[in-house]
Amino acid sequence: MRMVTSVAAMQRLALRWRRQRTPIGLVPTMGYLHQGHLSLVRKARQQVGTHGVVVVSIYVNPTQFAPSEDLGNYPRDLPRDKRLCGDAGVDLLFLPDNNQMYPANDAVKFSTYVVEESLSRGMEGASRPTHFRGVTTVVAKLFNLVLPDVAVFGAKDLQQAAIVRRMARDLNFPVKIVVAPTVREADGVALSSRNKYLSLDERGQAVALWQAIEQARRTVRTSKQPIAPGRLKSELKWLIETRPAARVDYIEFFDPATFEPAAKVRRGAHMALAVFVGNTRLIDNARL
Ligand code: PAJ
Repeated sequence: MRMVTSVAAMQRLALRWRRQRTPIGLVPTMGYLHQGHLSLVRKARQQVGTHGVVVVSIYVNPTQFAPSEDLGNYPRDLPRDKRLCGDAGVDLLFLPDNNQMYPANDAVKFSTYVVEESLSRGMEGASRPTHFRGVTTVVAKLFNLVLPDVAVFGAKDLQQAAIVRRMARDLNFPVKIVVAPTVREADGVALSSRNKYLSLDERGQAVALWQAIEQARRTVRTSKQPIAPGRLKSELKWLIETRPAARVDYIEFFDPATFEPAAKVRRGAHMALAVFVGNTRLIDNARL
């Protein structure tokens, strides 16, 4: 497995691959890899085939963290990430550094951002106002550096995947966006690098997100009529907050095409939620 830290070297290599007609698959990550990330790597391999190249980027992108958030202590374990990528058949690990990604030098300070203005308004965008601007900016940069034919994102962050797909379409990036299903633990908890922050007791309580999704599913599938979202939200909030460390940030029902809130909740609607378990903010979503 090749390792590249220079932004210029990455782009040169990608240009060479493109000239040789070698298909390029990209899996952008912030590292501390788990089976969810590795499922995206397998998906990328399926997409580009054995003659193609799979690139994983590991970059904890500062612009998608608010000053109050966990940038400083975001979990990192590069030796382990390298091992996992090597074993998974990744061809190249791209590890750019902050100075190259966001030059801070006075004369040439970084000052250009990419903003999606529709899908990013609600849910994660409402709770974390500068988050998606950081995501679209860094993903646009990664697309320009790695020049992927295919980029794979996880349904765990469904709103992010939809925003990236919209950005690629609106700005004419010649890349196919593929979304892979959420990988879960046996008890339903979605794999996440941030699960590392949870104490054993909090990890037990984190199952509340999945239980709320299952409860919502049961409710819409047994109800003869479409359900008022307000009523269902307060029921689920109550269910989640019976766990002492859990506090709901939002629960939303929405149309997955527009991410607009659903007027009524029925089978096939999408649900997303964000819940603090202790100090850790967890998100999940599913089709009902
Ligand atoms: P990160 O949280 O490291 O996630 C990288 C990719 O893995 C994302 O596409 C995410 O949706 C996917 N992923 C995470 N947990 C998953 C799970 N349990 N099942 C399936 N896929 C999962 O998302 C980011 O990094 C960043 O915002 C990034 C896109 C890299 C931009 O900085």
